[in-house]
Amino acid sequence: MTPRVVELIERKRDGGRLTSDEIDALVQGYTTGDVPDYQMSAFCMAVVWRGMDAKETAALTAAMVRSGERLDLSRFGRVVDKHSTGGVGDKTTIVVAPLVAACGVPVAKMSGRGLGFSGGTLDKLESIKGYRVDLTTAEFVAQLERIGIVVTGQTADLAPADGKIYALRDTTGTVPAIPLIASSVMSKKIAAGARAVVLDVKVGRGAFMKDLTSARALAKTMVAIGVAHGLAVTCELTDMEQPLGRAVGNSLEIAEAIATLRGEGPADLVELTRLAGAEMLRRGGRARDRKGALARIDRALEDGSGLAKLRELVAAQGGDVGMVDDPSRLPRAPRVETLRAARTAYVARIAADEIGIASVRLGAGREKKGDPIDHRTGIVLRAKVGDQVERGEPYVDIHVAGRPEDADAIALVHRAFGWSPRRVPRRRLVLGRIASRPAA
Ligand code: URA
Repeated sequence: MTPRVVELIERKRDGGRLTSDEIDALVQGYTTGDVPDYQMSAFCMAVVWRGMDAKETAALTAAMVRSGERLDLSRFGRVVDKHSTGGVGDKTTIVVAPLVAACGVPVAKMSGRGLGFSGGTLDKLESIKGYRVDLTTAEFVAQLERIGIVVTGQTADLAPADGKIYALRDTTGTVPAIPLIASSVMSKKIAAGARAVVLDVKVGRGAFMKDLTSARALAKTMVAIGVAHGLAVTCELTDMEQPLGRAVGNSLEIAEAIATLRGEGPADLVELTRLAGAEMLRRGGRARDRKGALARIDRALEDGSGLAKLRELVAAQGGDVGMVDDPSRLPRAPRVETLRAARTAYVARIAADEIGIASVRLGAGREKKGDPIDHRTGIVLRAKVGDQVERGEPYVDIHVAGRPEDADAIALVHRAFGWSPRRVPRRRLVLGRIASRPAA
């Protein structure tokens, strides 16, 4: 006989273990509405404090996959997916997915919206007029078949338990727990039918994982879950102390992604794109080694085939390709405020979380689920950590829409920068890698 839900909560609260059947009953009960929100939130809080072992985490993931449909994309070969645990200025998907698809590896990606200070790929893509992020499962599969790339929102039938539990965690202070994050990310990847997944676990003040030790623990947990479900998984651990690239804010990030596909991207975004793209090619079985994979990604950057693939993606999903051809047509804020250096100095810090919060205040992000956003606003960093800025020179542009919160946001951006009179080393972007074996 299955114990009552309250007994499961109490056992976890007291540091005990749940069986796979118990976890499955809890998750299916919550999906159907038999288990109420207050019990699931109490359970999540117990997990935040007590954790879950590997077996429980695997059972939780499997239960979330079982709560909905699981796509079978095997007829397309080795479909690869990529996912970032979220950060500030992270537009990598918009660059890397077309590059990898242009190299012949099918990319099927279900992305999310921004929440709190992290941006979301769907919000960024919606800066392009008409771009649809609500494809049905049938449309998702048909587009993958036709052009080998699809980037849309999660369909309601895939891992619905995750959608429901994530919304609950977001409002009950129960997001930061490794078993909950790992099962949430991996259940969606497994349900969406990918055979291989390249994960970018962000580390630092602009990420869920503030230090390398917890990032490694999350990465190991996700790799183990993937392997148990027959997926090849690579986790790159990358820096999120400062924002990625220069642009933060939806239209601004799309423009930067397009510039990168034209070979004019900022160094850190190009580095991450090459790294993730090459790994996706290897995991997709299109390159035998890293060197060959990197050469193919570089070719797709140089010959314009990556950019052509982005155009194809935008057209297929109803977007205005004219905005890809001419990014000055993307929505633009009415005014740009520029901050200038008070004295000649090196940039020592750009606090990613503060820049992210400032972008939310400007209207580029949302405080709570469902809030509207302004695609035009955001921040462009003219200098990054390690750069020297001369007295009186501009170091950041703030694209404002004339909201009452603008002054507050500008003050936050000002505070996010730290300065040093002495030379400061550039930050290392790639901090580590944890991966399943090639044969997985
Ligand atoms: N991203 C997810 O999809 N789920 C989490 O729990 C955290 C980040």
